[in-house]
Amino acid sequence: MRLLVCGGAGFIGSNFVRLRLRCSDDEIVVLDKLTYAGRRENFHDFASDARFSFHHGAIEDPAAVEAALDGVEAIVNFAAESHVDRSIDEPDAFVRTAAQGTYVLLEAARRRGLRYLQVSTDEVYGSIAEGSFTESSPLDPSSPYSATKAGADLLVSSYQQTYGLDTVICRGSNNYGAYQYPEKLIPLMVLNALAGDRLPVYGDGLQVRNWLFVEDFAAAIALVLERGTRGEAYNVGGPDECTNLTVVRRILSLCGRDESLLDYVTDRPGHDRRYSLGSEKVRALGWSAQTRFEEGVERTVAWYRENAWWWEPIRSGAYRDYYRRQYGTALG
Ligand code: NAD
Ligand code: TYD
Repeated sequence: MRLLVCGGAGFIGSNFVRLRLRCSDDEIVVLDKLTYAGRRENFHDFASDARFSFHHGAIEDPAAVEAALDGVEAIVNFAAESHVDRSIDEPDAFVRTAAQGTYVLLEAARRRGLRYLQVSTDEVYGSIAEGSFTESSPLDPSSPYSATKAGADLLVSSYQQTYGLDTVICRGSNNYGAYQYPEKLIPLMVLNALAGDRLPVYGDGLQVRNWLFVEDFAAAIALVLERGTRGEAYNVGGPDECTNLTVVRRILSLCGRDESLLDYVTDRPGHDRRYSLGSEKVRALGWSAQTRFEEGVERTVAWYRENAWWWEPIRSGAYRDYYRRQYGTALG
């Protein structure tokens, strides 16, 4: 199958492309705007594969989308602004990409009669004190990030109901693994611990996330693309839930550091306390998580240790200014 993968230069998208090139005969066309989070370095090991091609452009640009669609049979949309903290400071791009961008892709899929998979997040359901969300739980997002993602999901559903478009939605829980930009909890803490910088824990650090190894999410998306029922949404939750403090302490220990590096900082506004997804529907398609948190976090720390070529340009560039603005302290 020939797939258009939007946002394929980012963390999860590039892991998905790598998986498809390894495990299928798919031809993959990536369309990506190359924001700060989208990087050609993420293609380093498959850039020269004859089944892979890259178009530089934005999903909200109909001409760029049209130019990438030649021969394509399905669209998988990862493209999004993806960081909650940035959405609190500058929501503008979140609205444009999620709303206008998703609309342009849906129109393109409608014109050509293509199957369309939207990559979404557990954050559209908001926070849950006990139990887990199912696909029929109400959407109740808290941040501009999650609200724009929820809006995109609703637009996707409307195209299915109004125009009969062949759509599916995959809602993943917090992903981690190789190639994740170090603004997110796990890579930020790993790189700070390796460098001996302080580890900024928001609030009391007792917020709970449902950790999903990125290769497991990529496999679920591939399965839903192949077998998911038209018009349905599928939750994809990780096998383990833990508090941020548990995660950070494990990282400190894997990096040979002690708790003197912990820094309790001002909490994020509107901070969701707990995310939890029930994933029975995607399990019924044949998916299960292959990587438990303990193994996944060890592999992730090892990857960042061994791939300084990937993160050094980030950590020595514009990211330093982002970090100072966000945390009020400089990286060492
Ligand atoms: P990321 O920020 O690493 O990558 C996003 C990619 O989209 C980048 O390559 C970026 O350049 C590209 N992009 C952004 N705006 C674009 C636009 N207007 N046009 C074209 N390309 C654009 O994000 P990620 O963590 O890989 O997340 C991918 C998707 O998965 C997002 O839709 C996100 O909401 C969703 N998701 C993420 C997680 C997580 O834990 N990271 C969990 C569940 C779902
Ligand atoms: P993050 O990786 O931003 O994902 P999300 O907010 O989408 O779940 O954050 C995961 C959790 O870690 C969240 O509860 C916020 C917390 N966090 C910190 O305590 N310190 C940090 O520096 C960051 C980036 C996140």
